[in-house]
Amino acid sequence: MSHLAESSTPSRKRSRWEQTLDDADEQLLQARESLPPKRRSKSKTQASRLADSSHTPPLPTGPLAKPLVPSARPRHSIYAPPRILYPSFRPARSVYNYERLNQIEEGSYGVVFRARDKQTGDIVALKKLKLDEEKHGFPITALREVNALMACRHENVVNIREVVVGDTLTQVFVVMDFIEHDLKTLITLMPAPFLQSEIKTLMLQLLSAVSHCHYHWILHRDLKTSNLLMNNRGTIKVADFGLARRYGDPVGVGGLTQLVVTLWYRAPEILLGATTYSTAIDIWSVGCIFAELLLKEPLFQAKSELELISMIFKLLGPPTSSSWPDYTTLPLAKSITLPPQQPHGAALRQRFPYLTNAGLDLLSKMLTYDPEQRITAEEAMQHPYFKESPLPKHPDLFGSFPSAAAGEKRRKPFDSPSAPQRLADYKLITEFDLP
Ligand SMILES: Nc1ncnc2c1ncn2[C@@H]1O[C@H](COP(=O)(O)OP(=O)(O)OP(=O)(O)O)[C@@H](O)[C@H]1O
Ligand SMILES: [Mg+2]
Repeated sequence: MSHLAESSTPSRKRSRWEQTLDDADEQLLQARESLPPKRRSKSKTQASRLADSSHTPPLPTGPLAKPLVPSARPRHSIYAPPRILYPSFRPARSVYNYERLNQIEEGSYGVVFRARDKQTGDIVALKKLKLDEEKHGFPITALREVNALMACRHENVVNIREVVVGDTLTQVFVVMDFIEHDLKTLITLMPAPFLQSEIKTLMLQLLSAVSHCHYHWILHRDLKTSNLLMNNRGTIKVADFGLARRYGDPVGVGGLTQLVVTLWYRAPEILLGATTYSTAIDIWSVGCIFAELLLKEPLFQAKSELELISMIFKLLGPPTSSSWPDYTTLPLAKSITLPPQQPHGAALRQRFPYLTNAGLDLLSKMLTYDPEQRITAEEAMQHPYFKESPLPKHPDLFGSFPSAAAGEKRRKPFDSPSAPQRLADYKLITEFDLP
């Protein structure tokens, strides 16, 4: 355990890119870039060698762009079928293709910067993944994050542009489209909650993204308002796939890790020790997000897992043999004393006095104890709540807000638990087979 804790210590080495570039640095960089390739090759690191394109034909921007024009000689063995699923692999570009503008946030697993693409002028976000100092190689969570983002391309999922490297191979940055807000900061800074019509639009977008991920066999496992980005055109983008994983594959001994989902958004089956769980855990989190949009504050602000379980039981009543038939089989169920029964749905109605019956029905279907009975993202999108008045607002009609991430307004500090520790880092890489 201590070994794991020790090995998850993030890399402290900062690339030159992360430090402010003054004029002298810029000149040095330019001078270095203008050196002939032969002289450079002596001192360069493995990373810059990877990023160096001097020995290859000019690349289109981003490793995810279309493959280069095929040469006369086939690049693959004539005995192996050609690679059709992915563009051919090519070296990662250097982070120095971007001009650093400002640091947006330092999360638990990465520092996020706003930057400008020197070639196109596009404003982007760069998330520097916290990697070990080459102790364990490239961690699986970093691979999962990149892989899941690529597998889940969707209008409501943040767009990954490429992966670039810094001065060494432990400095890896994911380049994404820059999105002006995260929902957590926005909710905290807004004077009034979103309108019902706006909440419906945001929820439909979120459900559409979640349904898309689930359709592609990806569990997000850390849905929360700070991982939902929103642009100034009223569009939600699900981000932070650092805890995501593929589901449906056989799982190893010991099952899936329970160290997933930030506490306030964690489903009861995980809290009670289930080692097999599925898409329903994301829907529970979506229910908590729905409630947070309505209340303008998180639904379950618990300090510990035990406090969270007791808060859930208080709001929804204790589970029964019909509401959750498998409850008694869960590892931690026996150690919990259930509170007395209460009138069905009374506490939930009391907490959301202004929500329509249809809205309350959708919320309680998302916050259903039994994962088997919990509504799916696909079903939720068809719920009558979205068809009753007021109808979902067109995203274009959303007002725009000053962007804290772009430094237009000072970020307001808020107190919320961080994502669980990624012990999964050190699991075998075969657990997440490339799709
Ligand atoms: N593409 C982006 N555009 C703008 N801001 C972003 C972008 N991606 C992330 N951010 C900002 O950076 C914050 C942290 O990003 P992210 O959640 O990916 O990192 P993390 O280290 O995994 O965070 P945590 O563990 O705290 O959830 C987000 O809450 C958001 O404010
Ligand atoms: Mg995050």
